[in-house]
Amino acid sequence: MKYTLPSTPDSYAVAVADDFAAGGAGVPVLDVDNASRSYPGEPPVQALREVNLTIGQGELVGIVGPSGSGKTTLLQLMGTLDRPTGGRVQITGLDVATMADNDLSYLRATRIGFIFQQFFLAEHATVLDNVADGLLYAGVPLKQRRQRALDALDLVGLAQRPHARPTQLSGGERQRVAIARALVGHPAIVLADEPTGNLDQATGQSILALIDQLHQAGSTLVVITHDHIIAERMPRKVEILDGHIVADTGPAAPDDCRLRPSASFVQPPVSGHHSAFSIADDPS
Ligand SMILES: Nc1ncnc2c1ncn2[C@@H]1O[C@H](COP(=O)(O)OP(=O)(O)O)[C@@H](O)[C@H]1O
Ligand SMILES: [Mg+2]
Repeated sequence: MKYTLPSTPDSYAVAVADDFAAGGAGVPVLDVDNASRSYPGEPPVQALREVNLTIGQGELVGIVGPSGSGKTTLLQLMGTLDRPTGGRVQITGLDVATMADNDLSYLRATRIGFIFQQFFLAEHATVLDNVADGLLYAGVPLKQRRQRALDALDLVGLAQRPHARPTQLSGGERQRVAIARALVGHPAIVLADEPTGNLDQATGQSILALIDQLHQAGSTLVVITHDHIIAERMPRKVEILDGHIVADTGPAAPDDCRLRPSASFVQPPVSGHHSAFSIADDPS
């Protein structure tokens, strides 16, 4: 992924994004309106067909579908890594199609956090710098980048390992670093593509518990998965099949907005606490 610095830091897009960050806008974080994406070929591949999806601030949404159903294509549209061939995508009220490339790069760098199945960490760089680099394109000075990186590492339970290299970490710890990098810029939305896909069952559970914890703290998150068991646990579940959204439970009620416990991990409640949500005994 290559970002460029905005040539127009005082542009309309930047101002609107900052307004949104200040909580003034009241618009959806993400609005996918009749969006389609076809890939050229003989015949062309219609990967997404007239998809509608609106995500509000503070939601935790699971998008589930089998391999080839269009999940990654949808994530790329939601993350402004790609543009729709039909319809419209708006991030924090800004229409992706009308934005100059520089503004779009700035919007992406400051408003969207990405988490991938393969982590995509720089192996030669320390944990601290991997996370701090998440702020490089937002124009934050180095000292401040590192302080905010430490804060983000604290959030994911890795504050004690800032000088480790990714090669010295377990898969679960690497994904925690990637999550800290996604969060360090305080994005409006975090998009995760199969975040537990490369992890064993227990470690995957601890990453989901972390995602729940971030959601409880106010983050807006989208988790893409092929795993129906994971999707069933999400407060809102969207199903995608052959490029269509075929089911959407809609925004969760305020009293039903937590990640549901995993059947295999439920333990008897101890004095009202759900131990399945605890990351204190994290196996990663
Ligand atoms: N760059 C591309 N060029 C051509 N076809 C593509 C491209 N990317 C994805 N596709 C096709 O689009 C469909 C959806 O792919 P994708 O979004 O990756 O699905 P998923 O993430 O659900 O597995 C598939 O048929 C896939 O082969
Ligand atoms: Mg995919």
